Amino acid sequence: MTTTRVALITGANKGIGLETARQLARQGVHVLIGARDEARGQAAVQQLAGEGLTTEFIHVDMNDATTFRSAASAIEAKFGRLDILVNNAAVMEESRGVLPSQITPEMWRSTFEVNVFGLIELTNTLLPLIRKSEAGRIVNLSSILASTTLHADPASPIYDSKVTAYDVSKAAVNSWTVHLAWELKDTAIKVFAAHPGWVKTDMGGDMAPMEIPDGAVTSVALALADPSTPSGTFTHKGETLPW
Ligand SMILES: NC(=O)c1ccc[n+]([C@@H]2O[C@H](COP(=O)([O-])OP(=O)(O)OC[C@H]3O[C@@H](n4cnc5c(N)ncnc54)[C@H](OP(=O)(O)O)[C@@H]3O)[C@@H](O)[C@H]2O)c1
Repeated sequence: MTTTRVALITGANKGIGLETARQLARQGVHVLIGARDEARGQAAVQQLAGEGLTTEFIHVDMNDATTFRSAASAIEAKFGRLDILVNNAAVMEESRGVLPSQITPEMWRSTFEVNVFGLIELTNTLLPLIRKSEAGRIVNLSSILASTTLHADPASPIYDSKVTAYDVSKAAVNSWTVHLAWELKDTAIKVFAAHPGWVKTDMGGDMAPMEIPDGAVTSVALALADPSTPSGTFTHKGETLPW
């Protein structure tokens, strides 16, 4: 069995996920590039190979739990364990400016299906393999927009940035992080909620102040967190954010 750490990153074919894969691979982690589309996943693997980094594609579609089970079987057969899971894939499909009461039931469901239900089911499917790691790390990509405290504060910079279904889905991810960290508190596994910053990606848009390499810094640090790092936290670059 390999002693190299093995990481699965969902939505790793582009954006912050691809950059997280690049930075972890540079640190000697064996990265499995999770993607829902094989061609896009393989293109990411090829791109990293061109930079001298060896990674491999694994099919993980957050809308299809059969891919969670087949990914778990493949990881079990090849590595016998999983050291790092970065739950990075997410959608923000609603248009900005839609009032909270105007979000359609379909939008609530499609957002929660990927950002919450898929994330939880994938994590639970992989948990037996993460328990076999000496130092399992689960990084859940959250957002500052998950902060109920800041959304409720008229003086906060995000007070008028209400992307409701997305925000509420990420608040659920935060709460799930705390609950799972509680369950795993007597194990070697740590669970984190990470705010990457506002980053220039397809989701973050051109106005975002942070470049993609900087946007992966929080995920990478938490994926490699040492045993003294507290579990069940919500942070950006080591700074605690309000729930
Ligand atoms: N960018 C920001 O400013 C920002 C701020 C706060 C938090 N975040 C969080 O950071 C994470 C990465 O965001 P990003 O900016 O890198 O977004 P992005 O560029 O839009 O990339 C999103 C990734 O998720 C994948 N994805 C979406 N739905 C999927 C599904 N059903 N199954 C599998 N993969 C799926 C996409 O795959 P396809 O290419 O196939 O669509 C893509 O690889 C997200 O969790 C996001 O909420 C981002």
